[in-house]
Amino acid sequence: MTYAVGITGIGCYLPEKILTNQDLEKMVDTSDAWIVERTGIRTRHIAAPEQATSDLAYEASVRALTDAKTKPEELDMIIVATETPDYKYPSTACLLQAKLGAKNAACFDLSAGCSGFVYGLGIGGQSIVSGLYKKILLVGAETLSRITDWTDRNTCVLFGDGAGAAVLGRVEEGSGVLSLDLGADGTGGKHLIQPAGGSRNPATHATVDAHDHSIHMDGQDVFKFAARKMPAACKKVLQKAGMTIDDIALLVPHQANMRIIDNAIAHLKIDRDRVWVNIDRHGNMSAACIPVSLAEAQEAGRLHKGDNVMMVAFGAGLTWAGALVKWAK
Ligand code: ACO
Repeated sequence: MTYAVGITGIGCYLPEKILTNQDLEKMVDTSDAWIVERTGIRTRHIAAPEQATSDLAYEASVRALTDAKTKPEELDMIIVATETPDYKYPSTACLLQAKLGAKNAACFDLSAGCSGFVYGLGIGGQSIVSGLYKKILLVGAETLSRITDWTDRNTCVLFGDGAGAAVLGRVEEGSGVLSLDLGADGTGGKHLIQPAGGSRNPATHATVDAHDHSIHMDGQDVFKFAARKMPAACKKVLQKAGMTIDDIALLVPHQANMRIIDNAIAHLKIDRDRVWVNIDRHGNMSAACIPVSLAEAQEAGRLHKGDNVMMVAFGAGLTWAGALVKWAK
């Protein structure tokens, strides 16, 4: 016996502080015009000094649990997709479990870069499909501001902080997750990397001086990968589900660069008004982008029961992930 798995509740949280392009003009040699034209970003949220990733995750999770009418004790598992955990260990999922009082949940963090939420939907969801678990809390949460090199104009204009959470549970047969395409190309790992702080380059004064605990990125290599993989993953999940782009009510893409989203729109031949865009307000929040987008889309009345929703992401690894979901709530 297998079960259909879907999203039964969703919520998000964005820190109060907003950093504008004009603020960045005072920090590095950049301009609002360059950032808007080359990325589409105008503002991003920044966590308060006392807020860590698990704090953002907690706020989003409380909203998702309320939306799903689910108590923390009902959760069988908590997965936090993040590249900016509070600590290397314990996992942010364990910290979140303690804050929520979700004492019956198994917990782990998932590292798949910006594709983490969709990876979690696929892999976490399978434990509901198999009957092993009934309810899972899946979170994408990031405080990228903590690993941003604020002296590097190539990267510091791109990122923001935020969290989105989803409750996964059993849904009507024929709805929920219909198809998935998860993948990786590890040969591209060097293009998007936090070089120090792991076992390869443990923290030293030299690694700190070299800013090697921050995001290092070959923007153009990542751009080319994304331009190829986003449309390809969408086509794959459409094909697996026996659908065409006309069947899609809403495309929720990873929000890394408006030009990457525009490229996907052109390749897929989807109307722009069926694509969720919030990069202008939030920048790239890595694993939080897709769940925050879903929560905002629901809030805006853009998700209805029976809608086919396609999600697609790419990120550090390099990884990619697509999912087609028939909205079940
Ligand atoms: N302000 C002004 N000028 C800038 C800035 C800036 N903030 N950043 C770069 N430039 C300059 C460069 O120095 C370069 O100048 P030069 O020609 O004198 O050398 C010029 O602008 C063009 O630089 P490019 O790198 O060619 O700019 P490009 O159009 O490729 O845009 C960008 C760069 C925005 C980074 C783009 O490549 C991109 O979006 N890549 C994908 C990024 C991405 O998706 N990352 C995923 C991250 S996920 C994660 O980290 C968790």
